[in-house]
Amino acid sequence: MNATTASTDSGTPVPSAEKCPAFPPPHEFSARAHLGSLEDYRRLYRESLESPMTFWRRMSAELDWKEPWKELLAWDLPHARWFVGGQLNASYNCLDRHLAGPRCHKAAIVWEGEPGEVRTLTYRQLHWEVCRWANLLSRSGVVDGDRVVIYLPMIPEAVIAMLACARLGAVHSVVFGGFSAKSIRDRILDCGAKIVITADGGYRKGKIVPLKERVNDALEAPSGVERVLVVRRTGERVPMRAGRDCWVDKELKQVDARSEAKPLDSEHPLYILYTSGTTGKPKGILHTTGGYLLGCALSTKYLFDLKDEDLFWCTADVGWVTGHSYVVYGPLALGASVFLYEGSPDFPQPDRFWRMIERYRINILYTAPTAIRYFMRMGERWVEPWDLSSLRLLGSVGEPINPEGWLWYHQKIGRGRCPVVDTWWQTETGSVMIAPCPGATPCKPGSATLPFFGVDPAIVDDQGNPVPSGTHGRLVIRRPWPSMLRDIYGSPEALRNTYWSEVPGVYLTGDGARQDEDGYFWITGRIDDVLNVSGHRIGTAEVESALVSHSKVAEAAVVGEPDPDKGEALVAFVTLRQGEAGSEELKNELRRHVAQEIGAIARPKEILFTATLPKTRSGKILRRLLKELVRSGQIEGDTTTLEDPATVAALSKEVGKAAD
Ligand code: WTA
Repeated sequence: MNATTASTDSGTPVPSAEKCPAFPPPHEFSARAHLGSLEDYRRLYRESLESPMTFWRRMSAELDWKEPWKELLAWDLPHARWFVGGQLNASYNCLDRHLAGPRCHKAAIVWEGEPGEVRTLTYRQLHWEVCRWANLLSRSGVVDGDRVVIYLPMIPEAVIAMLACARLGAVHSVVFGGFSAKSIRDRILDCGAKIVITADGGYRKGKIVPLKERVNDALEAPSGVERVLVVRRTGERVPMRAGRDCWVDKELKQVDARSEAKPLDSEHPLYILYTSGTTGKPKGILHTTGGYLLGCALSTKYLFDLKDEDLFWCTADVGWVTGHSYVVYGPLALGASVFLYEGSPDFPQPDRFWRMIERYRINILYTAPTAIRYFMRMGERWVEPWDLSSLRLLGSVGEPINPEGWLWYHQKIGRGRCPVVDTWWQTETGSVMIAPCPGATPCKPGSATLPFFGVDPAIVDDQGNPVPSGTHGRLVIRRPWPSMLRDIYGSPEALRNTYWSEVPGVYLTGDGARQDEDGYFWITGRIDDVLNVSGHRIGTAEVESALVSHSKVAEAAVVGEPDPDKGEALVAFVTLRQGEAGSEELKNELRRHVAQEIGAIARPKEILFTATLPKTRSGKILRRLLKELVRSGQIEGDTTTLEDPATVAALSKEVGKAAD
């Protein structure tokens, strides 16, 4: 196991950042950028906080409103309503409004499947598809407010399905294709979906992902789902249930292509996206229309400096928030061309990304540190042969990027020419909160730099008091912003408790950070019981409840261990039921069980069978001690609250044994 570096507990001073030179924006970049100087950024940022009405009145003109908004914000903590009284439609903003001018026949989506097929959809074609799909959904009984679960590979139909829902005012809930049947079912039941959109399968690492089979398993018990619409992707035979399942291509032949985008209230729900939190059950984060779409559009414009002539590639799957905001809503609202890739970065070889960047002349690449670390590990020989001269900007998201990763990305992929924007945000924030404006903000490798317009972050101690610069603490946001989450679907009381009450009056991000003398933010990662594995959020409680649902497991505690490739890896401490014995076989069985319950991303890297777990007298597992044990091989922290101090010695011995 790895030894750890600095502590991330709130209030502890952390030694100053790696002494890296700052990277000023390249002169040629600034000269053409939407925002070309730090003064311009500061002026706009100040205006966004000091004169929000003037600022947002001007900025909201970036969208087409069917009915202009009257009141900027109605804020009744924790409930916000933005652009009150306004009406618009997200699908209209992403499609219809681009048809009247030169963007009409411009590529909206350029797609490559994992086996290598290519499809291009112009705005006109995408609009046509979305209109037909909207009519298909209507025919299937979908009306505004209905929830629709989307479980698709990264194919253009995923974008089409989302925009078709938005066109009608139906609320989509996209489920990442790596999630298990049980996870799909939980989400379907939680949001009360009556329609599921899926495909016969998708391609990943050369294999077929059996999406339809998983949906069938998810719907085996009664669920309330009336219809399953199936996209033909692989052409494989899949089991179809008569009366419930139908092929989309067949159904589309029976609908016409006329469809008006329905004008919707600014606060009309746009989507629910499930994300892991500190409880055993994922939370359905609800985003609404006006504020969310504006947050996406503005951040895409200023942080990615997106221009009409760019081909923009955000590598995230549409199953994550990054895919929602920066594959679909942000870039399409701006009328940009988006690149979409179905498969895995290492298929058939680790040069797939660079091959596609050369082939399609991609201009902006937005990916995750975990991918960057993977490419670093594979070595430059996979990158060097390719012509990456079309790239002009690089982005990073999902987890802290280590300065070495940043520098490698900058030098080997950007070839020293491209600014690198490290963007910090969350499913809950809807759009990027802290990131450089590439033509304006000097970058420091490893720092997400400065807040975006309208965002008022601060670092506080456990009592909620601001900490001096250079001191580590909790990252909070002190006022509402347009693209913020509006609710946790189905449990409104949790909204206040989870985000707005621990430090009264401010939004708690769950991340630790510090600010340097220039006001730059350095995010160090989660300080709650949420882990970040390869940029994917996983709640320790979720994995624990999956483990204890196995018949041989009595108790489980899951903690994160720093991992050079994945950022963090899961380590599970498991106590078995009386009469059961731990073995390698059982470890594998438990790993399989977790993959079945949640999905392969939640599979623990290590499983340690222990006789006891460290608990307080009230029975709470002290994960803090386990974390320490995993990271440093010993426990030196406060153990006075332990019910049985002897457990520590026993555990240390067991962990020592496992490491040998
Ligand atoms: C982490 C993904 C450091 C953070 C958009 C956050 C980051 C969680 C960064 C949200 C970054 C995301 N630097 N950490 N640039 N971006 N994170 O909801 O811990 O999947 O709270 O949203 O990812 O993950 P989520």
